[in-house]
Amino acid sequence: MPEVIAGVEALRERLRRERERSIGLVPTMGALHRGHEKLLEVARRQNDFVVASIFVNPIQFDRTEDLEKYPRMIDEDLGVCENHGVDLVFAPATTDLYPNEQLTFVESPVLGEHLCGAHRPGHFRGVATVVLKLFNVVQPDRAYFGEKDAQQLAIIRRMVTDLNVPVTVVPVATVREDDGLALSSRNKHLTPAQRRIAPVLSRALGNAVDSIERGERRVAVLRDAAQEMFAQYPEARVEYFEFTNPDTLQPVDQIDSSVRVAGAIWLGSTRLIDNMRWPR
Ligand code: PAJ
Repeated sequence: MPEVIAGVEALRERLRRERERSIGLVPTMGALHRGHEKLLEVARRQNDFVVASIFVNPIQFDRTEDLEKYPRMIDEDLGVCENHGVDLVFAPATTDLYPNEQLTFVESPVLGEHLCGAHRPGHFRGVATVVLKLFNVVQPDRAYFGEKDAQQLAIIRRMVTDLNVPVTVVPVATVREDDGLALSSRNKHLTPAQRRIAPVLSRALGNAVDSIERGERRVAVLRDAAQEMFAQYPEARVEYFEFTNPDTLQPVDQIDSSVRVAGAIWLGSTRLIDNMRWPR
């Protein structure tokens, strides 16, 4: 099993011995699936020493229900880390990372304005804040993030640039089930009936990208086509389906050189997100 450390000071002390080597960090909230595994794989290939963090960060949850039912399975997670040659798992308790009331936060108002940011108040502020804390504690050379959470990735990349954080952010492509559903810890909350409907999100995104590929440039037309697909599944409630500039994440109504299409749907009390980029 990999070495497990919970304390911030203990971790700093331990990593002092590895500073001559390259350190890769994979931040996670645990309940590790093949999406996380892909990040661990890439990190393992690119670094001498791999740290995975497992921390369900309370300040990024906008619904207490979501925080409470977030799956926690540290023993299984440690097994996954072991299989991928992770050297060290940082698994702090909430009091290790937040010993005091947190009074300082990282805000990304422009990148956080649309998509998930519009529907999850305080979410990205919680994400950016904890990720900067993790960067400062681990001080990795590289850190790995999934494109599955494209807005999170864009916000972290820009935070690193704007705040001169000495880390290279490495994006990793979304891992999907055979039917297109993006892997997510939340998929296990779906009932069998909801699970059958869930791939409509990736199908609608793929369909939009295919249409753009064939030359359609009008977002209104693309949006109508998606609407029609979702209309076949009244159980799926669409929270947003947006076409944005991939860097600024501002909505566009005409496709120019590139676009990030992103969507969020609810199936019962489970929220699913996904996105695709054009050109692919
Ligand atoms: P979590 O949801 O555990 O995801 C950890 C990392 O795995 C993120 O970078 C996420 O984008 C990536 N990931 C999740 N599903 C994926 C998939 N299907 N394919 C590829 N990558 C995938 O994201 C978080 O945790 C937190 O917000 C965190 C960054 C750890 C801060 O608390």
